[in-house]
Amino acid sequence: MRAVTDRIDRDGPITFADYMRLALYDPAEGFYARRVPGSGAGYRTSPSLSEWFGRLFARWATSVWEDLGRPDPFTVVEAGAGRADLAAQALEAFEGPLRWVIVEPFDDVAARQRERLGAWGTAVSWQRSLGDEPPVVGCVVANEVLDNQPVHLLEKAGGQAVEIHIGVADGRLVEVPAPLSDPALGPLVAAALDELEDGDRFEVSPAAADCVTRAAGTLRRGTVLVIDYGDEEPDLWRRRPSGSLVTYRDEGLGMDLLADPGEADITAHVNFSALARAAAAAGMVPEPLRTQREWLQALGAGQVADDLRRRQEEAELAGDHAGMVQLLAERSRLSALSARGGLGDLLVFSARKG
Ligand SMILES: C[S@@+](CC[C@H](N)C(=O)[O-])C[C@H]1O[C@@H](n2cnc3c(N)ncnc32)[C@H](O)[C@@H]1O
Repeated sequence: MRAVTDRIDRDGPITFADYMRLALYDPAEGFYARRVPGSGAGYRTSPSLSEWFGRLFARWATSVWEDLGRPDPFTVVEAGAGRADLAAQALEAFEGPLRWVIVEPFDDVAARQRERLGAWGTAVSWQRSLGDEPPVVGCVVANEVLDNQPVHLLEKAGGQAVEIHIGVADGRLVEVPAPLSDPALGPLVAAALDELEDGDRFEVSPAAADCVTRAAGTLRRGTVLVIDYGDEEPDLWRRRPSGSLVTYRDEGLGMDLLADPGEADITAHVNFSALARAAAAAGMVPEPLRTQREWLQALGAGQVADDLRRRQEEAELAGDHAGMVQLLAERSRLSALSARGGLGDLLVFSARKG
């Protein structure tokens, strides 16, 4: 990837965070600049899998709307909407004066989202980055976006943290251990060092925490909702002493972070303790962390599944084979949202303002 090698030729080894930023977001060659999320075979986010994700999200948004005293308009700001599945599902299901703002840095992706959501007219609008518009009353949602924020990659060596940089040797990308690139990382790495052994690796993401800070600034009153893979401290480090970074390609999961930058998604587990600290520092009140399974259950996913099963049995009794198969498929997509070892293990973080 020219953007990476040119930058290293010019500046010398770069931090893993800079490498990840170029690999995913370089405007010409970055993974997310060149494809609409959802176009790959292995892509499976909750809203892309089941229409019930957006419908149940709409129930959650309705409760936020009611808690806020039914403001008109009520605005949902969605960071990184991908194929706009969540927006389409929730706009259809929400019963109230809903405005939807998509935060999308890439014009091509925004153009596809516009096509998908055209029917909603001026109820939907776009902005390039969080905080571009005056604060709103409503909520900010980010589903599987924070795990794609650039992370600094660190290793414990001789009791200290070294930061893994990326350089070039013999025409190939290689890891280059170096001192911390920024003294501001010091306090963020200190707690992890106490939990880890020499040779262990971990990540810190000021960029992910910054998303929460900017989300807080986007709200006059309302709730920030972040759904992602991750953990709290210290389990985040203890459970994965070699770090959490992985790649996703159409062929599946990979561990070679330096192979073909721009051709693979790169993700790291989100540090939800760091998000709670960022929310509190921005004047928000974090709510208890839940799994997606618990969150959906509280929104009535169990009753929806029972209803689909009943209708499926009725279709079967009536000899409506096509209807029965369709309801079975709908129910199995719904249950995948709560699956153990899968999407159900995603964590749901929320924090309130005002
Ligand atoms: C894995 S996709 C998730 C898409 C969608 N939320 C879904 O659940 O299907 C992550 C998306 O977030 C976008 N993204 C990453 N950082 C962002 C930011 N700071 N603001 C807006 N979008 C961002 C990426 O470009 C990518 O389109």
